[in-house]
Amino acid sequence: MMFTQQEINEIRKDFEYLQGNPKVIYFDNGATSQKPKKVTDALVEYYQYENGNPHRGAHYFAMKSTEVYEGSRERVAHFIGAKKPAEVVFLRNATEALNLLAYSYGLYHLEYGDEILISILEHHSNLVPWQFVAQKTGAEMVFLRPDEDMQITEEELLQKVTSRTRIFSVTAASNVVGTMPDVKTLIRKVREIAPDVCCIVDASQYVPHHKLDVTDLDCDFLVFSGHKMLSAMGIGVLYGKEERLNAMEPFFYGGDMIEYVYECKSSYLPSPQRFEAGTVNVGGAKSLAVAMDYLEALGMDKILEYESALMNYAYDKMKKLDDVDIYTTSNLKRSPVLSFNIKDVHPHDVASILEHYHIAVRSGHHCAQPLHRSLGMNFSCRASFAFYNTFEEIDAFINHMEDVRRMMGLGLE
Ligand code: ALA
Repeated sequence: MMFTQQEINEIRKDFEYLQGNPKVIYFDNGATSQKPKKVTDALVEYYQYENGNPHRGAHYFAMKSTEVYEGSRERVAHFIGAKKPAEVVFLRNATEALNLLAYSYGLYHLEYGDEILISILEHHSNLVPWQFVAQKTGAEMVFLRPDEDMQITEEELLQKVTSRTRIFSVTAASNVVGTMPDVKTLIRKVREIAPDVCCIVDASQYVPHHKLDVTDLDCDFLVFSGHKMLSAMGIGVLYGKEERLNAMEPFFYGGDMIEYVYECKSSYLPSPQRFEAGTVNVGGAKSLAVAMDYLEALGMDKILEYESALMNYAYDKMKKLDDVDIYTTSNLKRSPVLSFNIKDVHPHDVASILEHYHIAVRSGHHCAQPLHRSLGMNFSCRASFAFYNTFEEIDAFINHMEDVRRMMGLGLE
């Protein structure tokens, strides 16, 4: 059952940015979400009362921070359906996690003639690291190209997978066109043709909006950033099947990832410490655990239902506007990101005019240049929604969209 208006009003009280004047309409949730007070309070609490360096020392603060950090790992494992906490590695963000996989898996397992299969929908973070691996190993980049409605068809998949596909890395939700491929089915089908393939999911734009079960997806690895799902910045997750993680070389070397260190060689701890050298981000991990508590208390199903209703409302209203091109898929299974251009107006001008009305949208290539190019353009605007947005905010946004061409002196003759 969807949130009532009263529930939304209560939820909005948790977000400090909404308490100011003038009222801000924040539609850049795809870039980073706003944070509820519970999350910022948890960060302050950690630094005021619990701050220590975990896994080092026998005093209260060292032990407390270890408890907070490892407790957060357990919380994350439970939230994403991992079999055990050791399958959850804390890193800075999804980009760092994908770079780790490129270096610690890609460089060691690929050779000339192998293929790396991704889609043209990918964010640069799930593209550029694989280009690096391809250039270093002689492997080839292969791209899944979506149909006109931005969907990856089974036919396209079957044309592109071969027995040389060694890495299949795909987004669970596009940050530009909102496509949500059926990742579980894609992984199963890729494995039928390429049993040795390593299947990776970029869930950065998926996990703030949907329940996730990595065990059910049966991916080898999955990555996401915390800051798009209410946590502090600087904390992200690499999920990996335990046997995959422990078979991989470390990426960062140094303190807290070793067992024994000799002058010229060392042995390493298993996952997760194997990949978490140096002092870690305990406050960030705690904020992510609290963000997950907050989301689950609201109910992921209710969040999905409400955000989908917001998205459909905005999409349908924007469809009726003249002189607007929409790039988001029309498929109702889509992430709440609405990408568009207003004819003859540069996206930065659109964003600046909307900012004049205190409406925040993103403009640019959204770290997806090849996707934009494949659509025959370089830039777009993007409004991306979260559960603390409202239908009234969308009405205001659409009304002001109508002002943009007029303010640019277009369409007046
Ligand atoms: N990856 C983020 C976005 O899509 C920054 O906006």
